[in-house]
Amino acid sequence: MPEVHRRTATRVALAPEQVAAAAARVMARCDELARLTAVPGTVERVHLSPEHARANRVVAGWMAEVGMTARQDAAGNLVGRLDADDPQAPALLLGSHLDTVPDAGRYDGALGVLMALEAVRLLRVPTDDGGDDGGSVRSPFPFALEVVAFSDEEGTRFGRALLGSSALAGSWDPRWWDLTDAAGTTLRDAATAFGLDPDRVGEAARRPEELVGYLEAHIEQGPELDRRGRALAVVTSIASARRFQVVVEGRARHAGTPYDLRHDALLGAGEAALAVERVCREMHHVVGTVGQLQALPGAVNVVPGEAHLSVDLRGELDHDRDLAWRLISAALDEVAARRGLRWSAGEVHVAPAVACAPLLQDVVRASIGARLPGREEPDALWSPAGHDAMAVARVTDVGMLFLRNPDGTSHHPDESVAQADVAEGLRALVEAVAHLAAEPR
Ligand code: HGY
Ligand code: MN
Ligand code: MN
Repeated sequence: MPEVHRRTATRVALAPEQVAAAAARVMARCDELARLTAVPGTVERVHLSPEHARANRVVAGWMAEVGMTARQDAAGNLVGRLDADDPQAPALLLGSHLDTVPDAGRYDGALGVLMALEAVRLLRVPTDDGGDDGGSVRSPFPFALEVVAFSDEEGTRFGRALLGSSALAGSWDPRWWDLTDAAGTTLRDAATAFGLDPDRVGEAARRPEELVGYLEAHIEQGPELDRRGRALAVVTSIASARRFQVVVEGRARHAGTPYDLRHDALLGAGEAALAVERVCREMHHVVGTVGQLQALPGAVNVVPGEAHLSVDLRGELDHDRDLAWRLISAALDEVAARRGLRWSAGEVHVAPAVACAPLLQDVVRASIGARLPGREEPDALWSPAGHDAMAVARVTDVGMLFLRNPDGTSHHPDESVAQADVAEGLRALVEAVAHLAAEPR
């Protein structure tokens, strides 16, 4: 983290009505973004889609409204910047992602982008020659404030997650250009159609010396805060992840075939899915999900000769995640031997567990603690959900703030967050930035 000198007080005086208005705007704009969808009536906005382009345009307008300059980077991320006194100063990145899973909730990602924008609105100060009417404003800190709306955190379209944040972190893998979506379109062709030049994706990469850190607000996507009756938590670490596409091969047969002659690939895949649940339930802080299962040839009167299933594994520690995969693989070997099947797995995504930086944990913890009664300790949680911060951690320190997510419902239209918690989250985000600015370096 570059040298950033002590400059300002740790407390930011926020008028309650200012925060309330900002929270209301966040909620209303999450609703507005939810309407930028590929499937009316649901929320679906995937990487490099027309909806992605429209969302970038709308959010760029909101960035300009608070006095930021907005640009789309070479990977399709939207980046807004509010300069500090020194236009060459390093930047603190705030933000999250604008893409979604299919039939998504409206807060996963979008909430963090919009809270970041409102935090900038609450933190900005007039430049010496500007007024606070949204005219010429600047960051009051010795670092610039940037808001990043990442283009592809979920990996919905091309199967590989964190594409936008990987580009920003300078860890783009050129093999990703050959990834294809369900229609067979390559990532390269989709990027070109979106108006990007794949050969210039490297220009999205940020250098460590130009960044102070990355701070992301996000709904918990879990039930912990709801169960504890708390609004906010500091995130300690983000789960390690591995994603596989598994193919089970048997033998397609007529649906009238007696069982002793069958090698039913779908039943083998079904036992594999149950093994994923059994293995992960027996382990601590490991979860596994089979979200996709396909029987081929897919005719009602044909015993499936082939089955495809996805396996999404995540754990607090890389070691546990990898042990789970070894145990699942052994279970698949046993099923295959017993049913006369063959199986193979291609790994489509892997990400190590990421620890949030101690300093950023401290400033988030302090900002939450300042609002808790008495000497109550702020809540601290590890994240079973993946986040862009996992990729950004390759180039700068990362920190995360979780907001209560009723029932932990996420990746579902019933996903929700309370406006009052958004207001608390905005206060905490703003305070955390001010604490960071006041930290000795
Ligand atoms: O899959 C995840 O954990 C995140 O929501 N992309
Ligand atoms: Mn998500
Ligand atoms: Mn998310």
